[in-house]
Amino acid sequence: MERRLPRRLARWSDLLIVTGVLVVCGFLIAWSGVYNVAASRGHWPIVERLLAFSMRNSVEARANFVGSPPRFSPDLVRLGAAHFHGGCAYCHGAPGQPSGQVAQHMLPPPPDMAVVASHWNERELFWIVKHGIKYTGMPAWVSQTRDDEVWAVVAFLRQISALDPQIYRELAVGDLEIAVPSGRDLATREAATEAVSACGRCHGAEAHGPKSRLVPVLHGQTSEFLMISLGDYAAGRRESGIMQPIAAALNLAEMRKVASYYAALDPPRAAARDPADADAVERGRLLASQGEAHAQIPPCMACHGGTGLDAYPRLVGQSAPYIAGQLRLLRAAVSRRSPAGGIMIPIARRLSDRQIDDVAAFFASFAVREGGEETGQ
Ligand code: HEC
Ligand code: HEC
Ligand code: HEC
Repeated sequence: MERRLPRRLARWSDLLIVTGVLVVCGFLIAWSGVYNVAASRGHWPIVERLLAFSMRNSVEARANFVGSPPRFSPDLVRLGAAHFHGGCAYCHGAPGQPSGQVAQHMLPPPPDMAVVASHWNERELFWIVKHGIKYTGMPAWVSQTRDDEVWAVVAFLRQISALDPQIYRELAVGDLEIAVPSGRDLATREAATEAVSACGRCHGAEAHGPKSRLVPVLHGQTSEFLMISLGDYAAGRRESGIMQPIAAALNLAEMRKVASYYAALDPPRAAARDPADADAVERGRLLASQGEAHAQIPPCMACHGGTGLDAYPRLVGQSAPYIAGQLRLLRAAVSRRSPAGGIMIPIARRLSDRQIDDVAAFFASFAVREGGEETGQ
């Protein structure tokens, strides 16, 4: 005992001295400016390996706490692809489209997702896309409450390595016809040849509705409601990592123009139709038209049927997965802090899962088929 104690103490003091020297050396390296932070020069190979090693371990450890993925439906993949085109492809490139010249000179350079996405499992991809990676330029998701949107991107990343440029383009841009800008336009306006900013990639345009049933139909909404929504996204009162950056990039005059464009359109022909369950539609019709007095649920049609205030959204013809998804978000009160959201959140909180699916089926039953005839009553 008497002999061991000093030995142990000696070990501790050695350790303290070594740690102290390392800290001082680290400080001296940082202080002297000897370490070159130039992105043009790359890291020392040992630093690069150490960084990659700690990044992988950090992601793997944290991804264990990510919940299980939802089902990766074609609607989810399509939405993820459309967002990837506008939000990620500039840095990472996409099938048939190299990354931007400036992005290629970042350090570390953003890797090609078709190559590296398969190095990670779904939860790890989710964690990276939601939280980003410090000191690399890989950004976090704009809204930390919208896990559902992050999963859409993961669903797409799972497929990216198998996509040829044409299929990718069809998923991300749809059948939108993108006119080649004139020489004068190129010389005097912002070029949008990849149509990254085009709303129609996701919401459809002219006679076409959204391709993914997780994207709302804007055709025929009042311009008041469209303006309120765009203003709420831009100010962060309504959360969406997909819509917030898009709305924030529009000025007021552009918002007015695009809102009156969609407000004037006839209901679109739905590309993907929800399979109708007649019983659910009937239960939904009763709830939407009469409400449920004992549960204090007011009739939805009073506000959403087309006779409500112009500031309220029309739900007739909206797709079922979109309506149900928004009701679940409203019920959890995560994504809307607007005054209008304050009207809807208490109502959504009183709805059961089955009631949500029923009203969603009811409103979706009005969607117009590709052939042109209405499917609802
Ligand atoms: C401003 C440029 C930029 C944008 C925009 C960006 N990323 Fe990244 N991303 C990076 C950089 C840089 C890295 C490299 C990190 C590293 O190697 O440690 C990275 C890394 C990643 C990784 C990890 C890949 C690996 O194996 O190292 C994934 C996955 C990823 N990004 C997905 C996305 C997705 C999905 C989006 C769009 C929602 C996106 N990124 C948007 C720059 C960007
Ligand atoms: C990458 C796909 C994508 C693009 C491009 C896009 N949107 Fe959206 N938009 C969405 C999604 C997804 C939602 C639903 C977001 C949510 O959950 O709040 C949405 C919601 C909206 C809403 C709210 C509608 C409602 O019923 O609540 C408006 C208004 C809107 N978008 C307008 C636009 C305009 C205008 C543009 C073009 C400047 C545009 N969007 C471009 C995907 C997109
Ligand atoms: C008193 C009026 C009122 C009643 C009644 C009402 N809502 Fe709403 N609802 C609103 C308002 C206002 C919004 C817009 C919230 C916003 O812009 O953030 C809304 C938004 C919604 C949305 C999101 C739509 C979109 O495109 O973003 C859905 C879905 C919805 N309501 C479903 C229902 C259902 C189902 C019922 C019946 C059970 C119902 N509402 C009853 C006022 C009402």
